[in-house]
Amino acid sequence: MLSLFAPPRIRRAKSINADRIKPFSISGSVEGHLEGMAESQNQSQHGMWSSGALFVLAAVGSAVGLGNIWKFPYITGENGGGAFLLVYLICICLIGFPVMMAEIMLGKQGRMSPINSVLKLAHENNRSSKWSLIGWAGMVGGIIILSFYAVIAGWISAYIYQLFSGAFQGADGGATGEAFKKFTDSPAQVLLWFTLFMAVTIFVVARGVNKGLEIAIRICMPLIFVLLLVMLVYGILQGGFWDGFKYMFHVDFSKLKLNGLLVAMGHAFFTLSIGMGAIMAYGAYMPQRESVKSAVSVIVIVDTLVALVAGLAIFSIVYAHGMSPSDGPGLLFVTAPVAFGNLPLGSIFGGLFFLFVAFAAFTSAISLTEPAIAYFVEEMNARRWVVALVIGAITWVLGVGSVFSFNLWSDFQPIFGWTIFDIFDKLTQWFFLPLGGLAIAVFVGFFLPWQKVWDYLEIKSQWARYVWVALISVVAPISILVVFALTIVQHFAGG
Ligand code: PHE
Repeated sequence: MLSLFAPPRIRRAKSINADRIKPFSISGSVEGHLEGMAESQNQSQHGMWSSGALFVLAAVGSAVGLGNIWKFPYITGENGGGAFLLVYLICICLIGFPVMMAEIMLGKQGRMSPINSVLKLAHENNRSSKWSLIGWAGMVGGIIILSFYAVIAGWISAYIYQLFSGAFQGADGGATGEAFKKFTDSPAQVLLWFTLFMAVTIFVVARGVNKGLEIAIRICMPLIFVLLLVMLVYGILQGGFWDGFKYMFHVDFSKLKLNGLLVAMGHAFFTLSIGMGAIMAYGAYMPQRESVKSAVSVIVIVDTLVALVAGLAIFSIVYAHGMSPSDGPGLLFVTAPVAFGNLPLGSIFGGLFFLFVAFAAFTSAISLTEPAIAYFVEEMNARRWVVALVIGAITWVLGVGSVFSFNLWSDFQPIFGWTIFDIFDKLTQWFFLPLGGLAIAVFVGFFLPWQKVWDYLEIKSQWARYVWVALISVVAPISILVVFALTIVQHFAGG
C-alpha cells in the first residue's frame, strides 16, 4: 500500500525534532534537537547538489528565466530604456549582490527549508523566533509568483508548438501581434498550457531535486545561451541593432519616472531569485567546500549578461521591424516570432528557442516550490510527492485568476486598475521580495555576529570585511527603504 508519509528512516530523523518547530516560540528542546542535528550539519535531509559546479548551475537555472528573457526587455521598454537599465544595474550591485550572499549563506548554514534554517540560526544566536517570518513570507510569495509565472510559461510552451508548425513564416509585427492577442483571448487554450506546465513542474519537483533537475540543467543551460545568441545575430543582421543598442544604453533621466525605481529594484530581486527563500533553499543543498562569494559572483554576472543579450536582441528586432518597445507583457511574443519567421530554418530555430525559454522557466519554477516543499516535508514528515501535489493544487487554483486576467476577467480590476495577474505580479515584486530582502539584510547585518558571518562567507581581508558590513547593514537596507519612501511619497503627492 502506498503511504503518504515518509519511510521510517526519515521518520526517525524527524522524531529528533518533533517538538521543535513552533515557529514563533523557542521550545526547551531546541538546543537538544540542534545538537542532534549536529552530526548531519553539512548535509540536508532533502539531498545535496552533486558538486559545487552543479549548485552554481542550479542557482543560475533559478535566476535565469522569464525574468531575463520575457520581463526585463518589456519593463525596460515601458520605463524608457537606458536610465532604467542604469538604475537596475546599480540595484543589482548594491542590493542584489550582498542580499544574495546573505541568503545563500543562511541556507548553507541552516541546511533546512528557509523557515527552519532562519529559525535555527536565530536560536543559535539567541534571537527571536519571529525571524522565521522571513521564510514564511517567502514561502507564500513563492507560491504566488509561481501561480502567474506558470501562466506565462504556458504561453511560451504554446509558442513552441506554433513556431515548429511554421505558423509565423514571413510574418510581420502586425501579424504576430494579432496572433498573440487571439491566443491570450482564449481562456481554454491558456488554461490548457498553464495546466500542462504546472503538471510537468510538479511531476519533476515531486521526484526530488537531484535527478531530473540536475540533468535538465546540464542540458538546457548551454543551449539557451546559444539560441539567445542566434537571436542577437539575427537582430544585428536586420539592421536594427544600433537603434536597439542606443535605446538600451542611452541614458536619459527625463524618461525615467519615479515608479521606475521601484520597478527596477523589484526586478533586481525577481531576476536573481532573491528575497523569498528560493536561493536559500538551494544554498541548503550546496556542498560545504563551495565558496558562497565566488558562486554569487558567477550567478549575478551570468544572470545580468543573459538579460542584456535578450534585451539587445529584442530591441534590435523591434527597431528593424518598426514595432514599439513598450508593448508590455506581449513584447517577446510579438518580436521573437517575427525574427524566426523570417530566418532561413526559422521554424526550427524558433521552436527550439521557445523550447529553451520554457526550460529556463522550468528550472526557475522548480526553485519557486522548493521552500514550501522542503518545509512541509520537514514538518509533517509527509512524502515529497504528496506535498508537491498539494502545493501544486493550491498554485493551480491561484493561477486560474491570472489565466482569466487576459480574457474572461480582464475587466475585473479591483484596485488601481490592476487585473489579478497585475496584482500578483506587483505585490510580489514590489513588496514581498524587496521586504524579504530587507529583512534578510537586517537579520544578517545586525542580528548575527560579524565575525561568524565573515567566517561563513570566508571573507578574509580586513577591508573586504568592512565593505561587506557596509553593504549588508547600511547600503542595501537604506537603498531599499529610500526607494520605498520615494515611491510612497510620490503616490501620495501625485494622488
Ligand atoms: N529569477 C527567476 C526569473 O528571472 C524568477 C524567480 C523569482 C525564480 C524568484 C525564483 C524565485 O525568471
